[in-house]
Amino acid sequence: MKNFNLSVAMLLFIGLSSLQAQERIPQVEALLEKMTLEEKIGQLNLLTPGGGVATGSVVSEDVEAKIKAGDVGGIFGVSSPDRVRQAQELAVKNSRLGIPLLIGSDVIHGYKSTVPIPLGLSSSWDMELIKETAKVAAKEATADGINWNFSPMVDISRDPRWGRVAEGAGEDAYLGSQVAIAMVEGYQQDDLRAPNTMMATVKHFALYGAAEGGRDYNRVDMSRNMMFNEYFPPYKAAVDAGVGSVMTSFNDVDGIPATGNKWLLTDILRERWGFDGFVVSDYTSVNEMVDHGMGDLQAVSAMALKAGLDMDMVGEGFLTTLKKSVEEGKVTEEEITTAARRILEAKHKLGLLDDPYRYSDASRPEKDILTKENRQLARHAATQSFVLLKRNDNNLPVSKTAKIALIGPLANDKFNMLGTWAPTGDRNLSIPVLEGFRNVAPNAQITYAKGANISNDTAFAKKVNVFGPRIEISDESPDQLLEEALKVAQASDVVVAVVGEASEMSGESANRTSIQIPESQKRLIRELVATKKPVVLVLMSGRPLDISEEMDMPVSILQAWHPGIEAGNAVADVVFGDVNPSGKLTMSWPRNVGQIPVYYGERTTGRPQATEEFQKFKSNYLDVQNSPLLPFGHGLSYTLFEYSKIKATSETLRPGSTVNISVTVTNVGDRAGKEVVQLYIHDKVRSITPPKKQLIAFEKIDLKPGESKTIEFPVTVEDLKFYNTDLEYVAEPGEFEFFVGGTSDCEMQGTFNLVE
Ligand code: NOJ
Repeated sequence: MKNFNLSVAMLLFIGLSSLQAQERIPQVEALLEKMTLEEKIGQLNLLTPGGGVATGSVVSEDVEAKIKAGDVGGIFGVSSPDRVRQAQELAVKNSRLGIPLLIGSDVIHGYKSTVPIPLGLSSSWDMELIKETAKVAAKEATADGINWNFSPMVDISRDPRWGRVAEGAGEDAYLGSQVAIAMVEGYQQDDLRAPNTMMATVKHFALYGAAEGGRDYNRVDMSRNMMFNEYFPPYKAAVDAGVGSVMTSFNDVDGIPATGNKWLLTDILRERWGFDGFVVSDYTSVNEMVDHGMGDLQAVSAMALKAGLDMDMVGEGFLTTLKKSVEEGKVTEEEITTAARRILEAKHKLGLLDDPYRYSDASRPEKDILTKENRQLARHAATQSFVLLKRNDNNLPVSKTAKIALIGPLANDKFNMLGTWAPTGDRNLSIPVLEGFRNVAPNAQITYAKGANISNDTAFAKKVNVFGPRIEISDESPDQLLEEALKVAQASDVVVAVVGEASEMSGESANRTSIQIPESQKRLIRELVATKKPVVLVLMSGRPLDISEEMDMPVSILQAWHPGIEAGNAVADVVFGDVNPSGKLTMSWPRNVGQIPVYYGERTTGRPQATEEFQKFKSNYLDVQNSPLLPFGHGLSYTLFEYSKIKATSETLRPGSTVNISVTVTNVGDRAGKEVVQLYIHDKVRSITPPKKQLIAFEKIDLKPGESKTIEFPVTVEDLKFYNTDLEYVAEPGEFEFFVGGTSDCEMQGTFNLVE
């Protein structure tokens, strides 16, 4: 079979020559000349003094003394212009060479003006919006002294048991890559020296989202085919977009921990992809290689450095062992110099070597943080992230003059609105749904009742509440709570129940083997439905849930994730119809946990199941269909869209030419609305098994009632490429089917042929 490809050798050559072409920076080289071995090793050390929210299980000690001694290259978990200035002064005025520090932070979904969790934000499918939220996050964070961000997290995730699905953009390589680019561009813009931009870190390299069983930190085993075609693209997209640093993952990749994996960090990342920034470990992931069975601390530190790791987060394996390893000939001083050079180059890119106090302007927080505009953007972003999963009897939107029973443990809650991984946000500033309802519908009669605890299980609540109260178990008994809620419901025109997960039921080290709404709330929902009042469920969660039971009930369901600081206002905007929901799922929602992993892009089998009916000796289950409960790309609107005139301009595609696939979308309802138009392909014959469908383009459009728009998707050979069994990036001639629609569950519309 003939390929349109660049050979591996060619790619390696391009990668290597781009490395060589990278110019040495005189300011950095001059510093390196002066540095002792110890000072170089000091640059590779990243510490966290604590004091803020802990993001790992240990906190560094004697940080001040170590900074003065030149033993620290960067710190994280410290903010405010004053504290950052003090930290920089320790380095600049006290260490021998006065090299300033990198000041890191986990700014995952907004700094103080918290936007929805990333999985929610990705559901907007609005790349300009995502970029804008990253820009604002950078503006706020840099105003508070931060210059280096541990985001974006781009791990493809197809297992909703894993708590960290909340932090990424879901299951798809193409969409994930677009989100990765938008975030890197938003954080860094085109000038890292500007005082309102910060260096981004793409993480967790690599494959962290594929932890076995959805259990955080667990092992990963994956074919190279799957890595290259389905899991690597978002990391590579971030590298191509110029991301400044890469963070390794906790898991192993092909039996070798990512943090010490030379194939991953050098052969792929640097040589094949041409990455020229620096690589940082995850929290103590160098030390954890001891538990992975790779040897003692000295051995694993040497292994990590030699593999291509430049900076060691918190564990101090580099600081305490590398000198000895040089003396014993286990690593070379040159290897340490190379890593130190990369850290210094990052400081140079940020402008820190010219002005260490660039991010310590005490006048900025007031001007730049939590401004009206920033909160407005957070509110808008939240409305765009919501996904209307089901609409029953048109009971959404709710009238602004209705008698509303606002029920549920998340209906008047401040502590769960920001979502997981919001260590820089202030939960007390978030708007509960009850407050938002009163703001947006002052003429409605709103009565609130809690109705149920998020969970009645005290042992479970204790594990969720490690960062503070998230699940508060009421003094009233579950029966009393329910009784009050039913009374309120009986007296209402419509029930809005805000239910789901507490924020820390997802996120790091927050995995679940049951992904249903907790039983305490399921009981409440059943009883509310039994009142026969119209019921709207506003569902909050950090992951896809198994809502098979609720989908069968006569209810509308609006998925609101954890919406961020403006939660209540945003939920009200959508529930009362000021904003028409337009989000689309970026992860498939399973019918039950036994179906996991379930994702739209699975590869073909030799015994495909063509219909939902059970067929003996086909790839299926006895007890449940193959399709997910809710597919990737699904999301309804208060209006209806009709797709017509779907066609390709040509039946053949030649290298260098384009086939345009066009579609007309009409808003046939009576409200303005937005639709995400999606284009999928299926490669009918190729040298490795193809995915059943593959997203290659999408566009989000805005349509007034009655309005039509025609969209053209230009398809070129580039869009048809994949990594073959020799890991060459190729497109193979033959027939391609294409599918167009407002969900991944859309019909085949035609074919075209790729010819040589
Ligand atoms: C561990 C997490 O895995 C990573 O995402 C985060 O950036 C670091 N801790 C630092 O907080």
